[in-house]
Parts: sequence; C-alpha cells; structure tokens
Amino acid sequence: MYICLNDKIFNIISEVVTEENVKAFVIGGWVRDCLLKRDHPGKDIDIVVAGSGIEIAQKIAKKIDKRLRVNVFKNFGTAMFRWDDYELEFVGARKESYRRGSRKPVVEDGTIEDDQKRRDFTINALAISLNKETYGQFIDPFNGAEDLSRKIIRTPLDPDRTFSDDPLRMIRAIRFATQLKFNIEKDTFTSIRNNAERIRIVSKERIVTELNKIIMSEVPSTGFILLERSGLLGLIFPELNALKGVDQKEGRAHKDNFLHSVKVLDNIAANTDNLWLRWAALLHDIAKPATKKYLPDTGWSFHGHEFLGSKMIPDIFKRLRLPLDEKMKYVQKLVDLHLRPIVLSQEEITDSAVRRLLFEAGDDIDDLMLLCEADITSKNEAKKARHLENFRYVRKKLKEIEEKDAIRNFQPPVDGSEIIRTFGIKPGREVGIIKNAIREAILDGIIPNEHEAARNLMLEKGKELGLTPVS
Ligand code: CTP
Repeated sequence: MYICLNDKIFNIISEVVTEENVKAFVIGGWVRDCLLKRDHPGKDIDIVVAGSGIEIAQKIAKKIDKRLRVNVFKNFGTAMFRWDDYELEFVGARKESYRRGSRKPVVEDGTIEDDQKRRDFTINALAISLNKETYGQFIDPFNGAEDLSRKIIRTPLDPDRTFSDDPLRMIRAIRFATQLKFNIEKDTFTSIRNNAERIRIVSKERIVTELNKIIMSEVPSTGFILLERSGLLGLIFPELNALKGVDQKEGRAHKDNFLHSVKVLDNIAANTDNLWLRWAALLHDIAKPATKKYLPDTGWSFHGHEFLGSKMIPDIFKRLRLPLDEKMKYVQKLVDLHLRPIVLSQEEITDSAVRRLLFEAGDDIDDLMLLCEADITSKNEAKKARHLENFRYVRKKLKEIEEKDAIRNFQPPVDGSEIIRTFGIKPGREVGIIKNAIREAILDGIIPNEHEAARNLMLEKGKELGLTPVS
C-alpha cells in the first residue's frame, strides 16, 4: 500500500506520466492533510510535473474521458479539470527569479526541488512521486514530515525571501497555525513581524479568503491574537485593532474589548458553522472605541455601540471585499440587536417587549440568542450561570409568545391593498398610518394577530381619518 496514493486517480496519472516519460508528483495540501489524517472538505489535488503541466493535464483528461473539459491558464502555466469529486490542478515545476527593479516574477522551468523551494511552508512542500519506477517515494528536502509531526510552520527558505515572494504567506502561516493548532517557528514569526508592512501590496480578496479560514477554525482567537502580535492586524483590520487595551480611571477599568471579541468568536464557533454569525460575533462590539466615555457616577460606558457598530459594517465589508448583500445586512442586524435579549433578561419581561424582539429579529432570533450566550465571557462562574439562566428564561418566553402570537414571520393580517379597496382610496399617507396602527396594536398586545380584529381596527382608524368604507 502506498501512503496517500490510494485513490484510483493516481494510477491513471501514473500511467500517463510514465508513458510520456515526464516526472510528476503530488504535492501540497493533499499530502499534508493525508499525513495528518485530516478530513479534507474538498478533494483538491495539486500535481507538479517536470515539464509542461498543461500538456500532461490534457493527456490525463483525455485518458479518463474524451469529453472532459480542461481549463488552461496559459499565463500561469497551469491547467485544471474536475473529475468525480476531484479538482486536479497541474503545474510545471518552476524556478522563480526576480528581475531587478520589477516585482513581476520571471518564471523559469525547474526541477522538483526548485519547485519545492519556492513554496510557502515545509509542510506544504512535501511531494510524492507518481512515476512507475519511483511510485510512492517521498521527496522531502526540507523535513516537512518532521515539521508535521512536531507541529511546526516553517518556510523552506530564509523566511524573508519566502514572504517577499508572496507577502500573503504571512497570513497563511497564521491561518495554518490556527487551523492545524501548530506553532510558527521563531525565525519565521520574527520575519512576519519584520515584513508585516509588505502586506499592503496584497489584494483584499486574497486576504479575506485567509481571514474567513481563520474565522472558520475551531479556535479562531489563536489567529487573531497572532495577527495582533505580528503587527498585521493594524494593517489589515484597524477597527479590530482599535479594540485593544484597557483604560483606567479612578480605579475603574473596562475589559479589553479585543480579547473579549475574539473570545466571543471562540464561544460561538463551538455552536455554529455559519460564517456570517461568526463575523457578527467578531464585530459585535466594533464601535466600542468610538462610543467610549467615562461617567463619574457609573464608570465606563459604551452607549449606543450596538447601533453605531451596525452602521460601521458596510464600510468594513466594502474595504475587505466582503459581500454587500443580505449577508452583510444579517451581520448588521445581529450587531444592532445584540443587547436586546440582555436588556430583556434584566427587566421584568413584558409580552410586548418579547413580541417586538421577535418582530425585529424574525427568523434570525435563534442566531441572536446564540450570539448573546456567546457574549458571556465572565470568568466568574456564578455570574456566568446567572446570565445563562436569564437567557434560558428569555428563550422560554420567546417560545411561548411565538406559539401564541406567531410574530416571527409577521405578515400584517390586513395589508395595504385591503385598506385601499375598503376605503376606495389611492396609495398614500393614510394607508401607512392605518398599517402602522395595526402593527403597533398587535405588537403591544392590544389586539390579537388575527384578521377580524385587525379589520375592526382598520375601520376604526379609517373613521378617525375621515374615511368611509366603500366595500
Ligand atoms: N502555495 C504557496 N504559496 C501561496 C499559496 C500556495 O506556496 N501563497 C502552495 C503550497 O505548496 C500549497 C499549494 O500551493 O500547499 C496549494 O495552495 P492552496 O490550494 O492555497 O492551499 P492548500 O495547501 O491546498 O491548503 P487549503 O486547501 O487549506 O487552502
């Protein structure tokens, strides 16, 4: 049995490259994850060939199925095709050199060792031969296998060189350390600190892909704390960086909002794989620096941070090239509402306050409750238990009211067109006034969420406005 080569696809590749007399290797994430016995979500296989990656990809695809479509990226010398669940990417082995005064790499053909050298980390540079005579042989000139077992992220070359070739790799180092729970080797980390500024030349899209991977890790705080320590955080995410630190006045201190935010992210990560709910957790207190005030009577206050925070999100999403669609609106809504269940739990809970929260949160109410529970980061166990108990009570009330009044997906029992038909009026101010009155009366519990009661209220309000029914 050959390690990491059990899939049938490798036999096919082996036959073609042996026939063609071209050296080929599987390299990168496939090998790394296989040795780690890590469940890989996709089936991405990177193949490097000492020759033309494009030609070999075309020959292999043809052998599998003549109809397979191969995507060729001539400028990069790569080709890829999908087959079964696999996504196969082929590249010719390269030796990268740099023209003086130009950032553009001149890529020359090279050997497998040349190619391994120019990869990001030793654990990603492990290669396994696919040619018949050497099938299954490991090529590991930088001790990647040992780094895997010692859980170390390290660059194959001098880290300054590796990071200068592609500064995104500084964030990738942190992403892999977070995902795999590895340590970044000392010199590699020092180099990240020294080269952090170079991240400015990297596109936001590439950066956010890595940030999302950090956020989707089991313990995402590791990544954000490393980003902070390396100096990268301030460059890529100044708003989050501004949450750092503790102010003290008259012996009163507030908590470090950066550490709190990433802890809330960890807490929610234990309960959801929803990327956008995780983003909401990370950003829920983002406006705390902008709203911070010291009030001599009550101490530190961040009044209105939930509202201002939700307003800050479009700019952050735009800058980071995150989607500006309903996903962003969802994050905004959760940030805006994140204190509401807390307020509810601290007061005598009225049915109408619960109804209003259900109305505003709609189907996102369960996610909002998860966020509020994750927001409890107190180290005082008794306090924590008390908050959780309060939230259990809020959840119970939410359930009771929802069962009784069905507010979650509120559709007015009398809509605008019924109002227009009843009074024979045109769309306008009166319709809005009546609709509003019906909604408010239902939310306040004055009338039930039912058609007959709503119709009676419509007639009453119409009369007040001087309208008479025509039907
Ligand atoms: N690579 C690199 N420098 C980069 C990106 C990628 O050297 N900036 C190399 C690494 O050898 C990596 C391979 O290209 O293993 C494939 O890259 P990618 O698909 O981004 O990452 P994977 O290692 O496959 O990991 P993941 O699927 O978790 O992103």
